[in-house]
Amino acid sequence: MTIAQISAHGRLRHLLTLEDLDREHIQMIIDRASAYLTKVGQPPAHDTILRGMTVANLFFEASTRTRASFELAAKRLNADVLNLDVNTSSRAKGESVMDTIFTLQAMQIDMFVVRDASTGVPAEIARNVEPHVCVLNAGESEVSHPTQGLLDLMTILEHRPDIENLRIAIVGDIRHSRVARSAYHALTKYGVKELRLVGPPELLPDSSFDGAKLCSDVDEGIRGADVVMALRIQRERFTELGAIPDPQEYARRYGLTPERLAITAPNSIVMHPGPMNRGVEISGEVADGPHSVIERQVTNGMAVRMAVLALAHEHVRDMQGISA
Ligand code: CP
Repeated sequence: MTIAQISAHGRLRHLLTLEDLDREHIQMIIDRASAYLTKVGQPPAHDTILRGMTVANLFFEASTRTRASFELAAKRLNADVLNLDVNTSSRAKGESVMDTIFTLQAMQIDMFVVRDASTGVPAEIARNVEPHVCVLNAGESEVSHPTQGLLDLMTILEHRPDIENLRIAIVGDIRHSRVARSAYHALTKYGVKELRLVGPPELLPDSSFDGAKLCSDVDEGIRGADVVMALRIQRERFTELGAIPDPQEYARRYGLTPERLAITAPNSIVMHPGPMNRGVEISGEVADGPHSVIERQVTNGMAVRMAVLALAHEHVRDMQGISA
């Protein structure tokens, strides 16, 4: 059963996937995020709208960027923030995810931010929480990373608003990538001219990317591209260790180097969701070079997470009968 992400009042209630979020709501999040950006060197944006609300960050999988930015975003909006240490929580004693959620919900949590290695966990939580509670997907197995898709779209639009003219190449382990899937859902809604998925045949997807061009030849895949997004090999998602590509061989065949970048469009931008493996999918020179917008992705990620929390808070207020 599909979970409604938009409430009966038209508010963003849950953010589980970009697949069935329409362009209007995506643009609403990006516009709100843009309002939370401040100039380099200026203090970060702060707001008091989440005062009195509690956000719980439940990261059942490793994270630096998403976890830190959701925590900072909630604090900069004045929420009470709980960061559950999953290694010392009662999940380590066998407690189920839903019992953990019900326990925390009894402490009056309003929003759960959830990362999990299993497909369906954020939706399962969303299906079972109280009507006022929101669930925000912070990365779900290989299938969905909606705030990453939003920050990637926002970063591309900042640099190239003419998205319908762009050729975008995503290079790497597409098969195991929730980043690629969420980017696909965002970019296709904005009418990207061409989306190329580039990587070794065994790391290309077998379905779920209708209309994208699959390409195993990296030069063919990135030639003339306006945007190149490099992805790491997701070693943790391989079921057979022997199937993991050798990093040196992968770097030689697919790594993004200055030489390879030379065949992309003249003003191309280089993206990477992080964490990077320098010298494997991307060289240090490219990661730190003039085409790179990787740090800007991180900055935009902060703003997107503030926007998502701020918009979801309107649903909580609706349900509490308090005007937003
Ligand atoms: N891009 C991303 O999700 O990074 P983290 O795993 O560090 O959160």
